[in-house]
Amino acid sequence: MLKYLKKYWLFFILAPIFMVGEVSMDLLQPRLMGQIVDEGVLGLSHGGVGDLGLVINTGLKMIGLVLFGCFCGIMSGVFANLCSQNYGNDIRKDAFRRVMSFSFEQTDRFSTGSLITRVTNDITQVQNLVTQCIRGFVRTFLLFAGGIVCMLTLDLSFGVVVACALPLIVACVIFFIAKANPMFTVLQEKLDKVNNVMQENVAGARVVKAYVKEEYEKGRFGAANGELVGTQLDVLLLFSYMTPIMNIILNVSVVAVIKVGAIEVGNGGVTPGDVMAAITYISQILNAVMRMTMIFQTVSRGVASGKRIKEVLDCEPSIKGGSFAGDTAVKGKVEFRNVSFSYPNMGEKKVISDFSLTINPGETFGILGATGCGKSSLVNLIPRFYDATQGEVLVDDVNVKDYTLGALRGKIAVALQKSEIFSTSIRENIAWGKPDAAEAEIRRAADVAQASEFIDSKEDGLDTQVTQGGHSLSGGQKQRVAISRAVLKDAEILIFDDTTSALDLKTEARLYEELKREYGGTTKIIIAQRIASVKDADRIAVIENGRLAACGSHDELMENSAIYRDIYDSQLKR
Ligand SMILES: Nc1ncnc2c1ncn2[C@@H]1O[C@H](COP(=O)(O)OP(=O)(O)OP(=O)(O)O)[C@@H](O)[C@H]1O
Ligand SMILES: [Mg+2]
Repeated sequence: MLKYLKKYWLFFILAPIFMVGEVSMDLLQPRLMGQIVDEGVLGLSHGGVGDLGLVINTGLKMIGLVLFGCFCGIMSGVFANLCSQNYGNDIRKDAFRRVMSFSFEQTDRFSTGSLITRVTNDITQVQNLVTQCIRGFVRTFLLFAGGIVCMLTLDLSFGVVVACALPLIVACVIFFIAKANPMFTVLQEKLDKVNNVMQENVAGARVVKAYVKEEYEKGRFGAANGELVGTQLDVLLLFSYMTPIMNIILNVSVVAVIKVGAIEVGNGGVTPGDVMAAITYISQILNAVMRMTMIFQTVSRGVASGKRIKEVLDCEPSIKGGSFAGDTAVKGKVEFRNVSFSYPNMGEKKVISDFSLTINPGETFGILGATGCGKSSLVNLIPRFYDATQGEVLVDDVNVKDYTLGALRGKIAVALQKSEIFSTSIRENIAWGKPDAAEAEIRRAADVAQASEFIDSKEDGLDTQVTQGGHSLSGGQKQRVAISRAVLKDAEILIFDDTTSALDLKTEARLYEELKREYGGTTKIIIAQRIASVKDADRIAVIENGRLAACGSHDELMENSAIYRDIYDSQLKR
């Protein structure tokens, strides 16, 4: 994922450079403070006579350095944030694009909640990691290394304290890091779970209420949330042990510096000002090591999150388009050649078995069969929502796998079994597949779909806003908006997957009449449960357990197909 940083290399370099400025100012302060003590207050080189002028001068110098340090700190922060935010933004856009290209099976495999966590929270963690690397880490490392150098230049004997304290504190840091590291991946997984429950409940709120399952769902959310809090507490508890232990080491080291300093002052090796400076330096050094633990915490979380985002970015779309986007001689022909299909999680069990059928251009083709027999699965193979496991699906005599996805799906308009309605106006919902459609075209599509009447009865007509999930429309109204959308696309092949189930028979009959009149040349594939919906089709295929049981016109089937007659009798005879 480093390649995403390339574009922001300048920010990536400027942030640490300004940080060097900020840290240098921090390292100079103790020296100047020492000078104030030694010369300004104690007057060591002037026989014990202090120098107020020097105190004021050095004090002003210190203020100047602080201001410059502040400026550098601000600039470093600005560049670090510009770098990390833009970096995260680019990754988020790519991750989103990748998620959009996933097949249904891939989306199901990741789960919606996990994909949302990955594209939001995980990317924030990676952004924090970048900021820490170019700011926090640089600052800490410079304070640590610079502090040691400055301290040793005061007097080498202070090095003894550093040499004793450092291994102890480093051992502590390594211990805590090793303990905490595996917890971060677990933490993100727990967050996925919480998001999944949340997402399911918001989307399915109506069902939850209808079945009075609020308490049950609260329990489910509580359990997922409890697991998240538990893991979070484990991490925080671990770090709450760490700080006091580190503080003890730090305070003992300060005492040791004072002791060593006192001896050296007695020997005339260092001045009291040097000892004061050394106390500040040892605090800076050990604090830097302690801060490393915090930085490592961010880095660990960032790396764990980075791996999860990489899984998304590296996941090749399982359905990839071919290269053909040219014109075809035939338009609107669909052919299944010995097609078998099973869902990826189903093993050997076939949903469609050895299915062969040709649907001719301009034909109105009905598909009938019991619930769960594989009707939706069959038509999902035409726009490649899924790929056939065996055999071939051809559109206009070209294998669907040879088309670019855009070219293939451009030929097909589908109104799905579950009408997807977006939270925008009815107009935009209808023009979803053809945003530049003129008002007259939208009106015509709505007329064909028998949607005009209800649209006009709304105060705002086509501009009526629909709530999320289309909850402000009735089931039949949603279906008609979805049908208008499919019809407006003016595609070669129109697929209605049980899209008229919520319409009364009269409205449905009018819809099919209009379709025949306005879209005579379009191939129409109509899946239905009711014989009345497909009775007038040119041909009807009856599917039984994923196999083609019979095919022909209504009259032919009535004559030749026992299954069809059975369905007819059960639905229409009485
Ligand atoms: N994404 C999926 N993963 C696994 N199995 C699936 C999936 N979608 C559908 N199935 C299974 O495949 C079989 C056929 O489903 P399909 O949706 O094609 O039936 P259908 O004929 O359209 O039924 P209906 O008339 O109820 O819409 C069913 O047994 C169903 O459980
Ligand atoms: Mg179906």
